Amino acid sequence: MTDVASKGPESGDDRPVLTNRQGHPVYDNQNQRTVGARGPATLENYHFLEKISHFDRERIPNRVVHARGAVAFGHFESYGAWGDEPIDRYTRAKLFQGKGKRTDVAIRLSTVIGGVDSSECARDPRGFAVKFYTEDGNWDLVGNNLAVFFIRDAIKFPDVIHALKPDPVTHRQEPWRIFDFMSQTPEAMHMLVNLFSPRGIPSDYRHMQGFGVNTYKWVNAEGETHLVKYHWMPKCGVRSMTEEDAAKVQAQDLGHATKDLYEAIERGEHPEWELLVQMMSDDEHPELDFDPLDDTKVWPENEFPAKPVGRMVLTRNVSDFFTENEQIAFGTGVLVDGLDFSDDKMLVGRTFSYSDTQRYRVGPNYLQLPVNQARNADVRTNQQGGQMAYYNRPGGENPHVNYEPSIMGGLREAQYPTHDEQGPEIRGRLTRKRIPRTEDYTQAGQRYALMEQWERDDLVRNFISAISQCDRAVQERMVWHFLMVDDDLGLRVGEGLGIGPEDVSHLKPLASQDLSENDQKRLSNLG
Ligand code: HEM
Repeated sequence: MTDVASKGPESGDDRPVLTNRQGHPVYDNQNQRTVGARGPATLENYHFLEKISHFDRERIPNRVVHARGAVAFGHFESYGAWGDEPIDRYTRAKLFQGKGKRTDVAIRLSTVIGGVDSSECARDPRGFAVKFYTEDGNWDLVGNNLAVFFIRDAIKFPDVIHALKPDPVTHRQEPWRIFDFMSQTPEAMHMLVNLFSPRGIPSDYRHMQGFGVNTYKWVNAEGETHLVKYHWMPKCGVRSMTEEDAAKVQAQDLGHATKDLYEAIERGEHPEWELLVQMMSDDEHPELDFDPLDDTKVWPENEFPAKPVGRMVLTRNVSDFFTENEQIAFGTGVLVDGLDFSDDKMLVGRTFSYSDTQRYRVGPNYLQLPVNQARNADVRTNQQGGQMAYYNRPGGENPHVNYEPSIMGGLREAQYPTHDEQGPEIRGRLTRKRIPRTEDYTQAGQRYALMEQWERDDLVRNFISAISQCDRAVQERMVWHFLMVDDDLGLRVGEGLGIGPEDVSHLKPLASQDLSENDQKRLSNLG
């Protein structure tokens, strides 16, 4: 039986008193109200019903991808220059202006395919999403730890993710489904050569790179634009795991990467990354054998050097997982003045997808949550209402005027800082076409050639282990692709699967494929 007299301040216990969410003190948190000690419960039992019904709603939908992640906070410090040149020559974005200028950041590092409690040792890309709380509003740079992606058109994203996610019947991630899709998707070869190498299992979150992957633009005060790609380099170096390393870590802990990041920050060992930017003029670059808007390609660093523009330091862990991790929302549409989109067909699709999923996953007012608010800029909007609206603050002189234009004291449009027209003029007919320079194998082959021998051995072993679980037709097509990537890769994976070049020489290019001149040469060698 509860001894009422022994509780509360009278007993000398000066801990704060538990209340319900209406602020009413809770006198008994152990027993429901019933008719007699053994009788039926009553329906006016507000505290009990409120407690249980809130518990019933504790979860929101997990992210459809990147469900498991770790969040931390810190700052970005600008170098004020792109290499040796003043940065305002290329971008007017305020966060980059001036050496030593600091901007608050939040970062979320994640795995992609598994659920919220899945293993952080999975062979999987890692998400690398950074939110900059700038004075001009937020900027989100939503990237991955690998520099390229599986596909180049956003319309294929649901398919690639369905193939990588668990089977809709067995609920197991099935190699035969993954490689069935990939064997019909030649543009994925570059990503696969990265993902199945040791880089596909980073040792933890602190020792991995980040890449914007998609192509963006910088805009200067004159309205001139350049195409850019973003890279994050960890100060403590890059480390990866083989399958054997990963199996050992996973046997002890499914969340070792979250733990490592959290503990490093608690120890005061603040993780740091440098931000580097590659740049090229804003045009089609016919001299290149790839399209700069193709996210299955990297830009060769000897032609387009990656120059440092600043550094990011993480200094604080989350104080609450749900409100700062589950509810944080990043998106590629979240850009500030001086930074812009390119016509990269993945980027435009992503830009629709993020805010769309967040309205569903978190709610239409997700931007009012503290972690998502543009906390270093004033937000004044005539958008209002919706579920869980926390405030409506039109911000004009006249609270009645929640529309624009008005001469009655409402909000007005901003003036463009400088030019309102920018970038090259684009003309074309509406169409559904692949970009012309697909060149699906060259960079995959270059990546393989650049690997150290142990990395190649690991890559070949991982491919054989996964693809051996597929149908013969899928295996043959994958060997055919690998022979197009690099003879040595194709021969070695083929040997492991019992498939020689003669077994695949009858295969024709896929109907969906445009072969480049290089590809044609490789194909004739194959025959
Ligand atoms: C998360 C869509 C490609 C990086 C997500 C989410 C969606 C999505 C719906 C869940 C967001 C949320 O619930 O808050 C897409 C689509 C893509 C695409 C449609 C292609 C068309 C990419 C690429 C990258 C990437 C190429 C890397 C450059 C991320 C990251 C997250 C994420 C890092 C997790 C953000 C977080 O930590 O909250 N994506 N994605 N995605 N995506 Fe993508």
